[in-house]
Amino acid sequence: MLDTFAQDVIKGLTAENKFLSSKYFYDDNGSRIFQEIMNMPDYYLTDAEFEILSLQSGKIIDALKFSGPFNIVELGAGDGFKTFKLLEYLVTKEIDFYYVPIDISQEAIDVLNKNLKNRLPSLKIKPKVGDYFEILKDNRKSKYPSLLLFLGSNIGNYPDQKSNELLNLLNKNMKSGDKLLIGFDLKKNPITIHNAYFDKYGITKRFNLNLLLRMNKELGADFKIDDFDFYCHYNPLTGDVKSYIISLRKQIVNIEALKIKVDFEYNELIWTELSRKFAIKDINDMAIQSNFKLNHNFLDCKHYFTDSLWEK
Ligand code: AVJ
Repeated sequence: MLDTFAQDVIKGLTAENKFLSSKYFYDDNGSRIFQEIMNMPDYYLTDAEFEILSLQSGKIIDALKFSGPFNIVELGAGDGFKTFKLLEYLVTKEIDFYYVPIDISQEAIDVLNKNLKNRLPSLKIKPKVGDYFEILKDNRKSKYPSLLLFLGSNIGNYPDQKSNELLNLLNKNMKSGDKLLIGFDLKKNPITIHNAYFDKYGITKRFNLNLLLRMNKELGADFKIDDFDFYCHYNPLTGDVKSYIISLRKQIVNIEALKIKVDFEYNELIWTELSRKFAIKDINDMAIQSNFKLNHNFLDCKHYFTDSLWEK
């Protein structure tokens, strides 16, 4: 039996227009490269959201209107760098809550857990490794209300229809009165967006090409990394950033574990990622379509980003 990664590679690389899902970026190596992306100043998303959580955690917590203990469940916690500000606020105020970070990368969760034990020793933390929808099923069983965190504009990776399905799925796993704090990267000067994704240091390129390394490692493929490059493009009319791997030669790649050979034409593309940018109005529509009530948008001072608070 082939696992879902193997199946998706077959599907994506034998398609007329080749594609691979960006969710496969995040093996331990890819998660490490993503930390590097978040540390570059051009990737403004991290700083903007960090500012929101640094300056407005009090307002966010007040808006929850939870009267007793509660859970904070974070989907795709990564290194938890931004969330730290929110957690720090709560711990300082001696507010009673459980932090449940979920991530697909064991290494990312280990680092997060160790850091938080160090920096916030009194924090009650229950980290979980795995697919967040599987783990989220437990949320309905909790006797406490929950705040779900879906930060970093991760929602932008999903096309309209898919994001709607995902938000409806989140809604189904929530109790009445549970809240969702969800990050959206906003439309802005296209040059700012371009520079965040087509970075001059080549970090985002390495992030994309890591997909090829991952296929070499896990599926016995023989991708020659130097024969591929990276391209991405922001369309300010649709709000879509699309990322691609380019084949720099006509070449054939053998994927041993899948028993397939993949033909690449000169300059043929593999579409790897969609990162959508939103208008405030889009966010309101999305909340309504997935049966949430939008409570408040918490924006950074440049209005680059919003953490939007939704209620079930
Ligand atoms: C983690 C999905 C929010 O789309 O901005 C960063 C991933 N890709 N640079 C994004 C990413 C290229 C990121 N998300």
